[in-house]
Amino acid sequence: MNLKSARVILTGASGGIGSATALALAQSEAQLLLVDRQAEGLQQLANRLRAEGAQAHAYPADLTRGADRQAVIEHAGRVLGGIDLLINNAGLLHFNPFEEEEPQAIERLLNVNVVAPILLARAVLPLMQRQGRGRVVNIGSIFGSIGFPYFASYSASKFALRGFSEALRRELAGSGVGVTYIAPRATRTPLNRSALNRMNEALKVAMDPPERVAAAVVDAVRRDRDEVYLGWPESLFVRLNGLLPRLVDGALRRQHREMRSYATQG
Ligand SMILES: NC(=O)c1ccc[n+]([C@@H]2O[C@H](COP(=O)([O-])OP(=O)(O)OC[C@H]3O[C@@H](n4cnc5c(N)ncnc54)[C@H](OP(=O)(O)O)[C@@H]3O)[C@@H](O)[C@H]2O)c1
Repeated sequence: MNLKSARVILTGASGGIGSATALALAQSEAQLLLVDRQAEGLQQLANRLRAEGAQAHAYPADLTRGADRQAVIEHAGRVLGGIDLLINNAGLLHFNPFEEEEPQAIERLLNVNVVAPILLARAVLPLMQRQGRGRVVNIGSIFGSIGFPYFASYSASKFALRGFSEALRRELAGSGVGVTYIAPRATRTPLNRSALNRMNEALKVAMDPPERVAAAVVDAVRRDRDEVYLGWPESLFVRLNGLLPRLVDGALRRQHREMRSYATQG
């Protein structure tokens, strides 16, 4: 897709990966509707992009609410005149022993990470099908291919998003509407609380700057890519886990005790 003048809805726009992606899209001359929960940060980002000459609008919304999702789509119609690209980026992460996760928090995570992206895609699809072109980009995770201990709800949500992306892409083949699934590895953003950052450092887990993910999103859209897995050796582990999961079981078991010590830190 040519991003120049493309009409884009970007969710989670004022977060770490979201704001870097907003900047990269603005530099590609896309027209942006920036969506996030907190109005203030979102408005500041839109003002900053506009000051640099971009076309950017802010729209605060809680994507777990159906009325808010509907309002986002209607607002995109009003301010952008249509939708060419939906980037489902908003997300929540839990890093805890599963038995300690609050049931309501699990429900919220699944609503933000799975239900909202699926229902937003459902809302934009008829518009994209009518115009015979468009793309839905779902931001997943390496944990959407490798089930990680202490990330059970998060891994489940990203496995779901990957499955949804694959199925919908196959369903829409030849229609002009594409679906991209992007799986970043650990990335330095506010999503990762300090215990997780400490664990990543202790286990020597590489962490990308959000700009790297943003560049991958822009590149994937430009090249109509189906799936992108970021990082080496993480992308190798994804394949290994698919082919030889027992091998990965063993490797993770060796780190289990250390991971638990971080996951139980408040
Ligand atoms: N950071 C990583 O290591 C990493 C690795 C792989 C994949 N990812 C994925 O990348 C995406 C972006 O994550 P990030 O690292 O940039 O996290 P982030 O900085 O926390 O940004 C996520 C944004 O989503 C927003 N959001 C959460 N719930 C929402 C809701 N109900 N309605 C609207 N917006 C909502 C958050 O708002 P609040 O701040 O108000 O909650 C936040 O601004 C996520 O899907 C994440 O799973 C991240």
